[in-house]
Amino acid sequence: MDHLVQIKTSGKVLQTPCGYIIHGLEDVLIKVTSISDIDGERGLLWYRGYRIEDLARFSNYEEVSYLILHGRLPTRDELEMYKHRLASFRTLHPATVEVLKNLAAAHPMFALQAAIAVEGAHDVDNLRLMESFKVGRYVEAERELAFKIAEKLVAKLPTIVAYHYRLSRGLSLVEPKPDLSHAANFLYMFFGSVPQPLAARGVDLYLTLHADHEIPASTFTAHVVASTLSDMYSTVAAAVAALKGSLHGGANEMAVRNYLEMGSPSRAREVVEAATKPGGPKLMGVGHRVYKAYDPRALIFKEFAREYVAKFGDPKHLYAIAEAIEQEVLSHPYFQQRKLYPNVDFWSGIVFYYMGIPYEYFTSIFAMSRVVGWLAHVLEYWENNRIFRPRGCYIGPHDLRYVPLDQR
Ligand code: SDX
Repeated sequence: MDHLVQIKTSGKVLQTPCGYIIHGLEDVLIKVTSISDIDGERGLLWYRGYRIEDLARFSNYEEVSYLILHGRLPTRDELEMYKHRLASFRTLHPATVEVLKNLAAAHPMFALQAAIAVEGAHDVDNLRLMESFKVGRYVEAERELAFKIAEKLVAKLPTIVAYHYRLSRGLSLVEPKPDLSHAANFLYMFFGSVPQPLAARGVDLYLTLHADHEIPASTFTAHVVASTLSDMYSTVAAAVAALKGSLHGGANEMAVRNYLEMGSPSRAREVVEAATKPGGPKLMGVGHRVYKAYDPRALIFKEFAREYVAKFGDPKHLYAIAEAIEQEVLSHPYFQQRKLYPNVDFWSGIVFYYMGIPYEYFTSIFAMSRVVGWLAHVLEYWENNRIFRPRGCYIGPHDLRYVPLDQR
């Protein structure tokens, strides 16, 4: 185990009788990848070699998800055919709609997790790929089928999220509209009307910024589940479970709830100071395991949020509150010493809140985007699959004598 000592890690290395433990696997590599890269020190992000700033400015989620999944930007014809396939995959199996009805009162992330599993149980392509796994490896002949299933999941998650919202409010379901873009169709199914352009642009930008991010906890979860040759829907359902936590995808909901609770920018110093105390509440939307600079996605979405509230107003002062917190964080020694900056969850919820999307749906929208990253990584790992099986360093007793119950 000594070779671990040489690896680059700024993390918490624990020495044990069996060797070294890297707490939280900080900086531990699990594979080589060509999907996305992060320069944490400089705050840079690339998808398949393209800077996130360029993709945010010039591209859209359909094109970016194609890039992440298939490894290159599509031609015009390829993009049109991909959009057509996505639109054709948006509908759900009746059993999935029934599950959403039964979970109408549940938090959207529970419903999303369950609905994905039920949809997978009824997807004959998914079952066929599972059957091919009985040989114990990913059969190259099934690669095309696997990519088709990935595109189906990208297409279906927005329908699941929008249907759950409608059912949770006792509203009638709004069927997908094939001629609308991915983002516009989501808002159409969610609110029941074709969205105005700036709202559709906001959702599309959000989906583009969240599409992949190397190996965060949810993507690592997808790798672990897929490495056993479980099915692709179950892999995504597991990744959704990991994303739900407030330290990961759940932070966008918590950040807006904190801003609403604060009520005024004047409380920023008090709230930020509380987060510096040992055992104090962590500031949601701040800090990152890899970025030790401002998250480039947060910088991009901040600009959009500024444009959005300039046009539609900031009645709850959410943007002003976030900006006040940002300024405190950027100047406070506690945060600067630890290189803690706003991350992707810091600004995004403000726009969704003002769009009228309830904050309990924010993480589901994160999952709607990241599903393409999770599956691109799974398809990449399956090309050289090996089941994950780490070890634990046992420090308990051995060979104890069993004492009968009446003698204890
Ligand atoms: C996402 O990994 C990804 O790529 C994730 C993501 C993606 O696209 O998939 O980018 C999406 O999940 C973004 C992160 C969203 N989560 C939050 O905003 C929750 C708040 N952030 C923190 O919980 C924390 O910053 C993490 C979980 C994001 C990172 O935690 P680490 O790397 O394990 O850091 P740590 O807990 O070891 O913290 C180091 C120090 C500690 O203080 P000391 O022990 O040195 O005194 O920094 C402090 C922490 O207490 N700290 C914070 C803080 N984040 C870290 N203190 C106050 N507020 C915070 N937000």
